[in-house]
Amino acid sequence: MSYINDTIADRFRDKSFDIAKDDYKFIKIKKAKEDIKKRYPDMELIDLGIGEPDLPADPNIVRILSQEAGKSKNRRYADNGIPEFQEAAATYLDKIFGVKNINPYKEILHGIGAKSILSMLPLCFINPGDITITTLPSYPIMATHTKYLGGVVYGLPLTKENNFYPDFSNIPNIILYRSKLLYINYPNNPTGQVPTKEFYKEVIDFARKNNIVVVADSSYAAITFDGEKPLSFLSIDGAKDVGVEIHSLSKSFNMTGWRLAFIAGNPDVINIFSKVKANSDSGQFRAIQKAGIYALNNHEITHKNCEKYSRRFDLLIDILKEVGFDAKKPKSTFYCYIPIPKGTKSGKVFKNAEDFSLFLLNKAFICTVPWNNPQPYVRLSVTFEAQNLNEEKKIINEIRKRLLNLELIF
Ligand SMILES: Cc1ncc(COP(=O)(O)O)c(C=O)c1O
Repeated sequence: MSYINDTIADRFRDKSFDIAKDDYKFIKIKKAKEDIKKRYPDMELIDLGIGEPDLPADPNIVRILSQEAGKSKNRRYADNGIPEFQEAAATYLDKIFGVKNINPYKEILHGIGAKSILSMLPLCFINPGDITITTLPSYPIMATHTKYLGGVVYGLPLTKENNFYPDFSNIPNIILYRSKLLYINYPNNPTGQVPTKEFYKEVIDFARKNNIVVVADSSYAAITFDGEKPLSFLSIDGAKDVGVEIHSLSKSFNMTGWRLAFIAGNPDVINIFSKVKANSDSGQFRAIQKAGIYALNNHEITHKNCEKYSRRFDLLIDILKEVGFDAKKPKSTFYCYIPIPKGTKSGKVFKNAEDFSLFLLNKAFICTVPWNNPQPYVRLSVTFEAQNLNEEKKIINEIRKRLLNLELIF
């Protein structure tokens, strides 16, 4: 008999872990997707569930990686990063978001992806019993690590009624008193909602009043369309006094697998984060950081992606509305978030978002990502694989046909 399972830490037996539930949901959908592919090998599955770009990184980014990869001076541990990357990140913040007065050496640090940065921040602040405030739904990494450390997570629902912004006004004092971290993510995955200056001002006031450190996850901040200007948390007066912002090269520059991001803002946060990071990893490969510098200096790469996502949304939202969905084009991200239908004309009633998502997969071969908490919605991503406008139109027409066939009722 193996004793290994008995020695695993108690925290992994805690059924309340959101990440466990989320993992379970994603695994279930993934498994259902694999089953469908096996059972119907000739049927074309349309994957609107993927949360990453459909194209590789720009050829110039790839060229720089291949040039730099073999250079002897790049072979070493990169530790807390190369200064040129920090400088490029500071210039990027200024050029794209108008963020001034950031000291690249004391107020910026690279990370091996936003996920890795988010996983280390609770270690800087959370003692057992301390609280991280997050939104519901939310990218779960900071919440998960808060729980790993014996901390507690308090969720603020993002609902249609609140226009998908958290309501800070109803948090009980007992929660506020124990809260150390606030995690926000705008433009938001999965709702597609964008930040406003007023919202960020409210966040800063709330944080200052309650001595809370803000972590603004701006992984999608540069992906905007229809005249929406990229907005950074750090561009708002007072932001640097209360927190940090995270930018990722994953989504803006089609570099998800490359693992490169940066954290910027309050120097005390950066300082303590740098200690945890130095004891957790040895930095991203210098050649990848150098390719990242090229990316940060060439915003037109992101701009090209934005045009594509916007064009695809125009097509997709039209057909979703025609089918009967309450769908609205987002101004940013590559996600749209739509309430589930009641059921079908033939009598099927959808119990929850997961039920609907599995129905779509089984009956229409369309993959989506469901959320039930706080409201039953599914997320559709426009990062499906298509090489050109004609292919995009073909796929969207196919989605239309398949959805209309389901005879959904709303
Ligand atoms: C809100 C949000 N933050 C962070 C990440 C992870 O970014 P990275 O690839 O830089 O780790 C994702 C990825 O889906 C995300 O949606």
